[in-house]
Amino acid sequence: MSHLVAPSVLSADFAHLERDIELINNSQADWFHVDVMDGVFVPNISFGFPVIKALKKYAKKPLDVHLMIIDPDRYTQAFKEAGADVLTVHLEACTHLHRTIQNIKALGMQAGVALNPHTSISLLKDIIADINLVCLMSVNPGFGGQKFIENTYTKVTELKELIHQKNSKALIEIDGGVDLKNYKKLIDVGANVLVAGNTVFGSEHPTETIALLKN
Ligand code: DX5
Ligand code: ZN
Repeated sequence: MSHLVAPSVLSADFAHLERDIELINNSQADWFHVDVMDGVFVPNISFGFPVIKALKKYAKKPLDVHLMIIDPDRYTQAFKEAGADVLTVHLEACTHLHRTIQNIKALGMQAGVALNPHTSISLLKDIIADINLVCLMSVNPGFGGQKFIENTYTKVTELKELIHQKNSKALIEIDGGVDLKNYKKLIDVGANVLVAGNTVFGSEHPTETIALLKN
């Protein structure tokens, strides 16, 4: 399978959201990456259900929703109704991660687990076979446009090995600081999904930048 590219809506122009949605629709991007922040789990607040529902109305590609919120179980149903196709929760935010994953899948969504940069891959050992995606944070979550953390390459290699050992089908997603200098190496070590916010929307020609990340 060739890798997927998921532009992060967090870096879009919210005053021209429909224009930026069409840009992604008409590009080689595979998913919309949608960052939800609660101001508690991360030191920032992004957007919630009304914006995601509006996005869903125009998006012609799956919504990859990344929850940076505490106690996400309260809202899994609501995110399904808002239009999430992939729903990713943070391992650090879930006391009963196994239950959360089962809930997400029972609602008909793909279940993802995100790890902060300091969180060890080994903590996924007993859950990796149950999940569809692992989102490796390559910056500390909360903001777009931060610098890529180099230790991510080692984590991708470790995760790939664990996925293989446990016969898991989980995709490896990289989120934070992905750019035109590091994306090739990320693919080479085993990344399957590249999230890119600032690299896409901060560039002069976003459609071409998506094509570069894709090919
Ligand atoms: C960070 C978010 C990312 C962010 C990535 O907390 O989870 O998805 O939008 O943005 P860039 O690609 O600019 O680092
Ligand atoms: Zn994200």
